[in-house]
Amino acid sequence: MYLDPCALTLVSCALYLINIMEEQKFEFSFEVYDSIDELKENDRQLLKEARIITKEAYAPYSNFYVGAAAKLSNDKIVTGTNQENASFPVGICAERVLLSSVSSFYPGASIDAIAVSYQSKIVKSDHPISPCGMCRQSLQEFEGRVKRPIRLILGGMVGKIYVIKSACSLLPLAFRSEELG
Ligand code: THU
Repeated sequence: MYLDPCALTLVSCALYLINIMEEQKFEFSFEVYDSIDELKENDRQLLKEARIITKEAYAPYSNFYVGAAAKLSNDKIVTGTNQENASFPVGICAERVLLSSVSSFYPGASIDAIAVSYQSKIVKSDHPISPCGMCRQSLQEFEGRVKRPIRLILGGMVGKIYVIKSACSLLPLAFRSEELG
C-alpha cells in the first residue's frame, strides 16, 4: 500500500497536537427581560435612576448620552454619566465616571449592581448597550479589589433588558493586577 508522505506528516502533526493541546472553554449566560416591568423592584429602581441621569451626560460630540447608577452594599446609590471633550480621547464613559465616584465618595465600598442606560439624538434607545472594553477592564478590577461581583442591568429607555451576574464574565482572560507582582 502506498502512503503519501505529505499526508503522513499531516496525520502525525495532528496526532501530536491532539496530545499536547488542552482545550479550555468559557461559558457565558445572562438573563433577558422583555421590559423594565419584569425586573425585581431593586433592579427596576436602579435602571430608572440610570435612565434619568442620562440627561446629565456631557456628550455634544457623539450625541450619545449614557447614564449609569450603582447600588452599593451600604445601600447608597451613586450615579455617573459620560463626559466628552473636544479632544475626543479625553472623554470618559459613564461607567468609569461612576466607578471613580464610588471609590472617591465611599472608599472601600463594594457595589451590588450597576444599571446602564442611554439616550441619543441619532439612534433609538430601544435595546441594551454593554460596556466598552476599557470599562470592562475597570469593572473587573473593581470586582477583584473589593471581592464582590457586580450585577449589570443593561437597558435602553425602552425595550429588552439584559442582567449579567458578574461584570468580569464580560472579559474572559482579562489582564489582572496580580500579573504585576
Ligand atoms: N459610552 C459610555 O459612556 N458607556 C458605554 O457603555 C458605551 C459608550 C460613551 C462614550 C462616548 O462618550 C459615547 O458614549 C459614544 O461612544
